[in-house]
Amino acid sequence: MKRTPFDLLVIFLAIIPLHLASPETLLSASPTKCHEQERSALLEFKQSLFHPELCNDLSKPESWKVEDGDCCSWEGVECDEGTGYVTGLDLSQSCLYGPINSKASLFRLTHLQSLNLAFNDFNDSQIPSAIGDLVELTSLNLSLSSFEGQIPSQVLKLTNLTSLDLFRNYRLKLRNPGMETMVQLLTKLEHLDLGFSDVSTPVPDAVANLSSLTSLGLRGCNLQGTFPTTIFELPRLQLLDLGFNPKLSGHLPEFHLHSPIKSLNLWRTNFSGSLPTSLGNLAFLSEFDISHSNFLGNIPSSIGNLTQLTMLNFKDNKLSGEIPSSMGKLVELSYLDLSLNLLSGQIPTSLINLTRLNYLNLSFNILTGPIPENISNLESLDTLYLQSNNLNGILRLDVILKLQDLDSLLLSFNEFSSVIEPNMNASLPNLSTLGLASSNVREFPIFLSSQSGLRWLDLSQNSIYGPTPPRFFNVGMSQLEFLNLSRNLITNFTALKWPILVRLDLRYNDIQGLLPIPPKSIEYYLISNNKLSGEISQEVCQLSSIGMLDFSKNKLSGIIPPCLGNLSKTLFVLSLNGNDLYGRFPQLQNNVCSLFMIDVSDNQLQGSLPRGLANCSDLVFLNFGYNQIVDTFPSWMGSLSYLKVLILHSNQFHGAIVKPEAHHQFPNLRIVDLSTNNFSGSLPFEYFDMWSAMKIHHTNDDGYYYGSVVPPRLSFALEAGKYDYSMTIINKGISTEYQRILAYLNLIDLSSNNFNGVIPNSVGSLTELRILNLSNNALTGSIPLSLANLTELESLDLSSNKLSGMIPPALARLTFLAFFNVSDNHLFGPIPQANQFDTFENNSYEGNLGLCGVPLTKKCGNPVEAPSAPLSGASAEELNWKIVLMGFGSGLVIGVVMGLNTTSKIERRFLRFYRGWQRRRMHQIRFV
Ligand SMILES: *[C@@H]1O[C@H](CO)[C@@H](O)[C@H](O)[C@H]1NC(C)=O
Ligand SMILES: *[C@@H]1O[C@H](CO)[C@@H](O)[C@H](O)[C@H]1NC(C)=O
Ligand SMILES: *[C@@H]1O[C@H](CO)[C@@H](O)[C@H](O)[C@H]1NC(C)=O
Ligand SMILES: *[C@@H]1O[C@H](CO)[C@@H](O)[C@H](O)[C@H]1NC(C)=O
Ligand SMILES: *[C@@H]1O[C@H](CO)[C@@H](O)[C@H](O)[C@H]1NC(C)=O
Ligand SMILES: *[C@@H]1O[C@H](CO)[C@@H](O)[C@H](O)[C@H]1NC(C)=O
Repeated sequence: MKRTPFDLLVIFLAIIPLHLASPETLLSASPTKCHEQERSALLEFKQSLFHPELCNDLSKPESWKVEDGDCCSWEGVECDEGTGYVTGLDLSQSCLYGPINSKASLFRLTHLQSLNLAFNDFNDSQIPSAIGDLVELTSLNLSLSSFEGQIPSQVLKLTNLTSLDLFRNYRLKLRNPGMETMVQLLTKLEHLDLGFSDVSTPVPDAVANLSSLTSLGLRGCNLQGTFPTTIFELPRLQLLDLGFNPKLSGHLPEFHLHSPIKSLNLWRTNFSGSLPTSLGNLAFLSEFDISHSNFLGNIPSSIGNLTQLTMLNFKDNKLSGEIPSSMGKLVELSYLDLSLNLLSGQIPTSLINLTRLNYLNLSFNILTGPIPENISNLESLDTLYLQSNNLNGILRLDVILKLQDLDSLLLSFNEFSSVIEPNMNASLPNLSTLGLASSNVREFPIFLSSQSGLRWLDLSQNSIYGPTPPRFFNVGMSQLEFLNLSRNLITNFTALKWPILVRLDLRYNDIQGLLPIPPKSIEYYLISNNKLSGEISQEVCQLSSIGMLDFSKNKLSGIIPPCLGNLSKTLFVLSLNGNDLYGRFPQLQNNVCSLFMIDVSDNQLQGSLPRGLANCSDLVFLNFGYNQIVDTFPSWMGSLSYLKVLILHSNQFHGAIVKPEAHHQFPNLRIVDLSTNNFSGSLPFEYFDMWSAMKIHHTNDDGYYYGSVVPPRLSFALEAGKYDYSMTIINKGISTEYQRILAYLNLIDLSSNNFNGVIPNSVGSLTELRILNLSNNALTGSIPLSLANLTELESLDLSSNKLSGMIPPALARLTFLAFFNVSDNHLFGPIPQANQFDTFENNSYEGNLGLCGVPLTKKCGNPVEAPSAPLSGASAEELNWKIVLMGFGSGLVIGVVMGLNTTSKIERRFLRFYRGWQRRRMHQIRFV
C-alpha cells in the first residue's frame, strides 16, 4: 500500500470520531464470552485478507489468536455486554488487502452496528453488496480503502445508518442509484462523507430534509448545477465541505443568528456573488475557505464578529475595497490568506492584534501605504507574504526581522523607497525564504551573512552595485538552493561555494571576468546579458545535474567545450547566443538528447549541423542563425514532431531543398527562417503542403512561447524556471530582437537566397501565416492569386525578384497587412486601391516597369480599370478606417509590426495608441 504522509494525516483525521467512541468499550472488559461462530468468522476473515507483510506497523488482527477464546477481548472487536454478539468492528489501518466477496465470513456478524474498514487496500474491488445484510449498521466507514465502482444499492438500504464515510475512494461512483436515492433512503444520517466519489449530478434538494445532518463532505465529487441554499440552513449542520467542485455554482445565503456552522469550505468551486453582512451571524465559525472561487465585492466588516475563526482563506477571488479593520478582532486566527484579490487601501493597523497568526498572506492585491509599524507584535508569525502590492514608505526590515519564528518573508514588487536593515547579529534561526525583488535595495544586505538557514533568496531587480563582497558568500552557507540576483549592477561574482545550490540567476548584470562555475548540484544556471569574457571552462561539463544553461549575450570566446555534449541527457535549455564562440557544435554523447531549446545564434560556429540533433525528439526551438555553418537543408530533422522554430539565417547553407522523402515532415513548424544563405532551386513547395501547423488556427495561443509549448513531459521542468525564448528577425535590413515570441507568430523567411522559378500556389494553403518574406531571390512568374487566401498576413515582402504580371487586386482582402513590398520586380498594371493598400507608400512599389496609380505619380491609362474593393456596403473611406482599426485593434498586429520598420502614417498613429497594450506587469516571482 502506497501512503503519503498526507494520506496518513487525512486518515488519522478521518478516523478520529471512531477512536473517540471506542475507549469506553475498550476499558470495560466484557464478562460475556463471544459466540463461537462469530469467533471463527473473525478468524476466517483475518485469514483471507490480513497481509502483515504489506505494512510495517503492528496492526489489530495480529493479536487475534485461535487459542485466545474470547474474541470480545480482541483488539478492534466490540461485543454487546448482554448477548455477547459482536456489535462493533474497527479494522481501520489493519493491513487488509484484496477484494471482499459477498460470501465473506464478515457478513456472518449480523449484529454489527459499527464497521470501520478505513485505510486498507481492497484492491479496487467493488463494495460487496452483502454489506446490505448487516441491517443493524449505524456506522460504516470505508474511507481510503481502494473500493471502486458503483456504490451498491444494498448500502442505501441500511436505513439505520447515521454515519457513512466513503472519503477518498477515488474511483467510487454514486451514479445509479445516485445521491438523490441515497438521501431519500438514509434519512437518519448525521455524518455523510462522499469525498472524491464520482457523483456528477447537482446536489439534490432532498439533502435539506436530512434534519439530523451535522457534517456533509462532498469534496471533489464533480458536482454540477447550483447548490441548494436551503442546505446551509440545516439546523444541526456544523461542517460543510464542497471544495474542489469547479462546476458547482451557488452563492452564500443570508445566515441566521445561532447557525451552528463551524467549518465551511467552498475552495475551488464556482460559487460567486458577494459575502453577505449576515456572515457575522456565524458565531461558531472556526474555518472558512472560499479560495479560488468567484466571490466579489467588499469584505463585510461584520466579519469581525466571527471571533472563533482560526482559519480564513479568501485567496484568488475578486474581492475589492479595503480590508475591514474589524478583522483585528479575530484574535483566534492562525491562518489568514487574502492574496490574489483586488483589495486596496492600507493594511489595517488593527491586524497587529492577531497575535496567534502563523500565516499571513496579503500578496497580489493593490494595497498601499506602509507595513504597520508594530508588525513585530505578530510574534507567532512564520510566514509573511506581502509581495506584489503597492506598499510604500521605508521598508523597516529591522522591525520585521524581530519576528523570531519567521520562516518565509516575501516583500518583492512593492514601491518601497529604501530599506533599513537589521543589524548584523539579527540572526533569525528559521528564516529560509526571503524575497526582496524590486525593493530598492542598493547594496548587498550585510545582515544576510548571518542568516545561515536561508534556502531561497530573491534580490533581483534592485540596484545592487559593484563587486560581490566576500561575506555575501556566507549567506545560507550550507542551505542555499535558490539565488536570484538578476537585473542588478553587479560587476564581479566569482566564488561559488554553496554546496547544494540548485538555481542561480545572474542575468542582466555587469559581471566581468571568467565564467563562474557553480557547484555540481546546480540545475538552472542563467548568467546571460553580462560582460563575461574568456573561454567556457571544461569544468562546466562536470555539472551533471544541469538542465538549463544560459550564457547568452556575453563576450565568451573560444570553442564550445566538446564535453558539453555529455550533458545532453539532463540539459533541456542551452542558450549560448551572442558570444564569440567558434568551432563545431558538440557531438551528443550516445546520441541521447533531452534538449528542447538550443540557441547558439550570433557566434562563429563552423562545420555542419550535427546529425545527432535528430535524436532530440523534444526539440521545440533551434536557432543556429548568424554563424558559419556550411550544410544543406536539414530535412533529417523533419521527424522532430515538436519542432516549432527553425532559424538558420545568415550561414552558408546551400543547394536545392529537395522533395521530402516522407510525408508529414515538420508537422509543428511555425517559424522557418532560412534567409541570407545560398539555397538555390525552386521554392520548397512540397514542404509548404506539409507545414500543417501554419494552416491550423490555434485558439489558445494568446501568450508567448514558454511553458505551454514544450512537450508535455517537460512542461513541469520549464515552468519551474520560466524561460522565454527570444529571437532576432530581420526585415529590410532592420534587425529586431523579440525578447519573447508571440505564440501565434507564423513566419516564413526565405529571403536573400538564390531561389528561382515561380512562387507555388501551395503557399496559399498556409492560411495562418503572419509574415512571408521571399525577397532578394530570382523568382519569376506572377504573384499567385492564392496569396489572397493568407488572410492573417501582416507582412509580405516579394521585393527584388523577377516577378512579372499584375498585383492581384484580390490582395486587398488581406486586411491585416501592415507591410507590403514588391519593389524591384517587373510588375506592371494598376496598384490595388482599397483597404490596406491605401496605406502603403512609394517605396513599396519602386523599381518596377509598369506599375501605376496612387501612390505612384504615374497615372494608369484608360483600358485597365483600377480594381474595386472586394467588400461592399459602407463608403470607401469609412471602410478603410474600419479595416485598419480591425487590424490593429485586435491586438494581433502589434507584436509583429512593432518589430518591423513601420513606415505608414496610419500604422504609426495606431501603434502609438496600442503600445501600452504590449506592456505587461512583470510582478510574478518568475523563477521559483
Ligand atoms: C489485485 O488486483 C490486481 C490487478 O487487477 C490483480 O492482478 C491481483 O491479483 C489482485 N490481488 C488480489 C489479492 O486479488
Ligand atoms: C434497524 O436496526 C434494528 C435493530 O436495532 C433492526 O431491528 C431493524 O431491522 C433495522 N432496520 C432496518 C431497516 O434494517
Ligand atoms: C457584530 O457585533 C457588533 C458588536 O460588536 C454588533 O453591533 C453587530 O450587530 C454584530 N453584527 C452582526 C452581523 O452580528
Ligand atoms: C488591539 O486590541 C486592544 C485590546 O482589545 C485594543 O485596545 C486596541 O485598540 C487594538 N489595537 C488596534 C490597533 O486595533
Ligand atoms: C572584478 O573583476 C575584474 C575583471 O576580472 C578584475 O579586474 C577586478 O579586479 C575585480 N574586482 C574586484 C573588486 O574583485
Ligand atoms: C482560396 O481558398 C478557397 C477556400 O479555401 C479555395 O476554394 C480557393 O481555391 C483558394 N484560392 C486559391 C487561389 O488558392
